[in-house]
Parts: sequence; structure tokens; C-alpha cells
Amino acid sequence: MKDTGLVAATEFLRHPSMVGSAFPATARMVRHVLAPLTWADIRVAVEYGPGSGRFTFEMLRHMRHDARLLAIETSGAFVEKLRAACDDPRLIVIEGTAGAVGRHLAAHHLGRADCILSGLPFSTLDHSDAQGIMDETVAALAPDGIFAAYQMRIAIRPLIDRRFASVRCGYEWWNIPPCHLYWATQPRRDVSDLRGTDLEAAGSGRKPGDCM
Ligand SMILES: C[S@@+](CC[C@H](N)C(=O)[O-])C[C@H]1O[C@@H](n2cnc3c(N)ncnc32)[C@H](O)[C@@H]1O
Repeated sequence: MKDTGLVAATEFLRHPSMVGSAFPATARMVRHVLAPLTWADIRVAVEYGPGSGRFTFEMLRHMRHDARLLAIETSGAFVEKLRAACDDPRLIVIEGTAGAVGRHLAAHHLGRADCILSGLPFSTLDHSDAQGIMDETVAALAPDGIFAAYQMRIAIRPLIDRRFASVRCGYEWWNIPPCHLYWATQPRRDVSDLRGTDLEAAGSGRKPGDCM
């Protein structure tokens, strides 16, 4: 599998707010984000915004031979490069939006995801798009599934807090830019239809400063 890192800089120049960073994730950040995942239990994985494929290739390295990885990416250039760089039959690369994750899983006859990894730049997404993606994420995740995310800023934190009963946080300095890391479990489907900034702020009862 060939890395497609050079495309990241070009795509960042073309769509800065969608891509978020001109630099692909470092190997150290990839290891840090993926470390808590239990690969033996993951049969269906989803990646939002695979970009140049740094996480994608490492996930495939760990995944079971019968597992599937659905990588959803809006940029046609990244999609084309990823498809050309990797012929692993477990990987399904989709040109589309993370907001339609349920539809994409169904189209490939996959059930709920055991793991969803997000590299989306939530701080630059439209707020209602961000809420929609998180609602879809909760609906698409298995009850014992895990949602993992890496973010330059903390915009995603209240969106996660409201929708998951358990959230672990971390930070990775060795990346450009350094990132906040989140691992969320126990999706709360009962709240996924309640929207609005006030409700986001209300969160799950955790104080915003508990772990940023
Ligand atoms: C920070 S970059 C991802 C970095 C990449 N995962 C890496 O390893 O370096 C964010 C990616 O999300 C993609 N993206 C932005 N909005 C999206 C959406 N709504 N659905 C899917 N992909 C999206 C961008 O095109 C970009 O490739």
C-alpha cells in the first residue's frame, strides 16, 4: 500500500476548511489514536475523512481478515488516490459524506459499525452539519461500539458528551497540528433526536473542563 501524503497539501490549498490540515497524521498520532481499539472484536469499521490514508492503512494492518473498513471521503482526489494505492478487498472507499454513514453501511449490507474513527475538522463544519453527522454516528454505531476522533480544536467535545455516556480524552503533541483525542463508548440513542446549542451545552452532566 502506497501512502498518498503529497495529495494532502494540494487538497488543503483547494479546500482548507474541509481538509483542516496540510499535513497527514504522524505515525505516532496514528498509533496513539488506534491503541485502545480491540481489533479482534471489530468486524465493521468506518473511517470519516481518510484523506491520504495514514489511519486507513494502519487499521487494515490490524483488522481481522473477515472485517470490512468503509472509508467515507468527500474529496474526489483523495478517493481516487486511495483506491489506486490500496487493493485490499476489506477496504471500501466511498466518495460521499459522513452524514450519510447509515445509508452507506446499508448499501454494502453491513450492519452497525463496531468502530467509527473520525478525522473530520468539526471546528470548521457548519454546526447543523456537525450535529447531523454526530446523530448519524450514534445511529450507525453498535451498542458496544467505539467512536474515536482526533481534533485540532475542542469543537467536537460537547457534541460527543451529549451522545455518549462514557468519554476518554488524550492529547498528541507529535503531530502538525497537535490534536485532542477522544474515545467515546455507550452511545445514547435516546438523545439523538434532541438538537440545539442549549442542549449541546447541557451535555451529559460532565463539566466542560473535566477533560478537554
Ligand atoms: C484532517 S483531514 C484527514 C486527515 C487524514 N485522516 C490523515 O490521516 O491525515 C480531514 C478529511 O475529512 C474530509 N472531509 C471533510 N468533510 C467531510 C465529510 N462531511 N465527510 C467525509 N469526509 C469529509 C476532508 O476531505 C479531509 O480528507
